[in-house]
Formats: sequence, C-alpha cells, structure tokens
Amino acid sequence: MIIDQHISQRIDELRPQFPTEQALLLPLLHEIQAKEGWISKEAMKEAASFLHLPVARVEEVVSFYTMYNRKPVGKQHVQICTNIACYLRGADHLLQCLEKRLGIHEGETTADGKYTLTAVECLAACGTAPVVQVNNDYHENLDEKSLNQLMDRLDKELLDG
Ligand code: FES
Repeated sequence: MIIDQHISQRIDELRPQFPTEQALLLPLLHEIQAKEGWISKEAMKEAASFLHLPVARVEEVVSFYTMYNRKPVGKQHVQICTNIACYLRGADHLLQCLEKRLGIHEGETTADGKYTLTAVECLAACGTAPVVQVNNDYHENLDEKSLNQLMDRLDKELLDG
C-alpha cells in the first residue's frame, strides 16, 4: 500500500483547509512523491480511490505538472531549466556539462541510480537564471564553475550517505 497511515493522517490534517476532496489531490500527490520518489500507475489508482475521484482525473493532473515524476528517479534529481531566461544565460551549455559529467543524456538516470537529469520548463526564478533544481532545492545564478562545485557537493553527500 502506497498511501500509508502517515500520508492518510497528513491529508486528514489538511482536509479542513481545502474546499473539496479534489483540491486535496496536489498535496496527496506531493506526499506520495516524497515517500516513493515518483508517482506510479498504482499510486494514481490509490490516490483516485482515496479521494473518490476518477483515475483519469488523477492521471491528467500528474501529466500536467512537471513537478510530478512519472518514472523512478535517481537519489539526486537534477532538473535544469532550459526556458528562455535560462537559455539566454547559458542553460544549454550547462546541460551539456551535466550530460558530460554524469555520462547520461537528458531524461536518463545513471546506472548506479544516483542521478537523474531532466530539462524542465520555467522554474519561476527567471531573475536569477540559470537555475537548477536538485530534489527540493534551487541553485541559482549558476555558471560552469559553480555548477561543478554544486555537483561536487552532491557527490560528497551521496558518498557520506
Ligand atoms: S526561464 Fe528558467 S527559471 Fe524562468
């Protein structure tokens, strides 16, 4: 079971603040992704059943929001914005640097499961472009040097466990 007691309790706590069951779908998906790292078909079915919604409605929401992972991701999910502000400030070059460093193409996960690299649309931090999101954290105003420093830190975190 994916929606366990912890998630169920968390949604029950939030319920009074939300006008409808459907409105609880986003926080429920957030909780599921925090636990599982992604939203599987099984998780979508459970979410639909939990909130008494059609499965198709849950699938629509999961596919609309890029923040929801529709396949398993690595321990560090590196998401680089390639939208216009970031593009104009070198995001394409940074993406190439990441592909070279990780030995994977955009959209792939390293064989050891440590990293997933994804190009994403605007992360709403255009004023500090280019931006990379790693799991829940933003890293802004990046250049090749600071990106490599960030990746060094992530490597160390993974080593330290
Ligand atoms: S274009 Fe990259 S954060 Fe908006």
